[in-house]
Amino acid sequence: MEKSFGVDHLLYSVLLSFNHDKQIFTFLCFGVILSVLSYYINYKMKRRRMETIMNRYDGPATLPFIGNATEFLGSTRDLLKKAIKLMKEYKSPFRVWLVNKPYVVISTPEDFQTVAFKTLEKDSSYRFVVDMLGDGIFTSQVEKWKRNRRVINPAFNPAILFHYFLQIFNERNIDLIHRLGKEVSTGKQFDLWPHVIQTSITTICETAMGYKDDNNTEEVMNFGNAIMKSAELVGQRFYKPWLMPSFVFTAYRYLLGYGNVFSIVHNLPLKMLKKRRELFRQIKTENYVGNEQEKTMRNFIDILLNFHEINANFTDKELSDEVISIMFGGSETNAVTNCFCMLMLGMRRDIQDKVY
Ligand code: HEM
Repeated sequence: MEKSFGVDHLLYSVLLSFNHDKQIFTFLCFGVILSVLSYYINYKMKRRRMETIMNRYDGPATLPFIGNATEFLGSTRDLLKKAIKLMKEYKSPFRVWLVNKPYVVISTPEDFQTVAFKTLEKDSSYRFVVDMLGDGIFTSQVEKWKRNRRVINPAFNPAILFHYFLQIFNERNIDLIHRLGKEVSTGKQFDLWPHVIQTSITTICETAMGYKDDNNTEEVMNFGNAIMKSAELVGQRFYKPWLMPSFVFTAYRYLLGYGNVFSIVHNLPLKMLKKRRELFRQIKTENYVGNEQEKTMRNFIDILLNFHEINANFTDKELSDEVISIMFGGSETNAVTNCFCMLMLGMRRDIQDKVY
């Protein structure tokens, strides 16, 4: 009797607790569904205006959740081809969606002018560049950008370009012509890029950074290769959503064997900053005996060092970030443009003759 009571009681308790657990489970499920739903409604409400505006733009058909992300699969070269194809298919401005983020693509100078005059704020995806260069002038938000831009501007004024830099531009380009001449004399096909990027980097080192070293070709080439690789890797993060989380991107870089590529980008600029800083300190001492040009020259790095000295809010990190950013900004862009120019001149002998 006692035993049977015990079994019934146990069965009853199990059923009761099962029912109780089921209730809790149902309650939890209901709670989760309600939270997800309210999050989704809130999310949609916040984006309603933006989505309405985006829907007015023409653009390629989208897939649920991923938008147009599949359009941008493949290498950087494929991406360029795809971008050119889209620009031919859709009139500027048009839109593409990368997962939940819309992008308005512009391809005419008029549209570019409208954007450039109306917007100073950088998109949040610029944070990918911050991982590579730090938060320098390319990426900084408006207030910081305005302050640093005002400080940097005089470093590239026409008088400095003419009086100090022109001679360096000529020297570096004569050197480039000699190197290209040697290649041409072999009668074999050769790659322009290593020569042009070397000239581009050494020119910025000698002008903006006031740093000259005739024996650092290897270091310059390492920097050149690292900026190209970094730009390619970081560029992918803008259109490959799976590379957007930092930990995935870091793992991806290490897997490809480019774990330290950003440090290589930083090495040369930071080395120049250190050297120039030492010189800057010596020049400031009254008994410095050096060449007059060193004392009077107000290049980019000197202007920043000066600002750093008088402005406690301009930190060491900000100083390094600006130096890294300008080295990056001036090297590849300049070299690509020069290569393109040579290609065009090679294709148009009539124009080439006019250049001579
Ligand atoms: C033909 C060569 C060049 C091209 C095609 C070029 C292209 C560009 C473009 C498109 C931007 C806008 C980037 C953005 O806001 O996201 C930019 C900004 C910038 N470039 Fe260049 N660049 C060239 C040469 C240089 C050189 C030689 C330097 C420095 C020595 C330089 C330094 C900068 C800096 C500091 C910015 C940021 C300006 C700011 O946001 O206020 N660039 N460049």
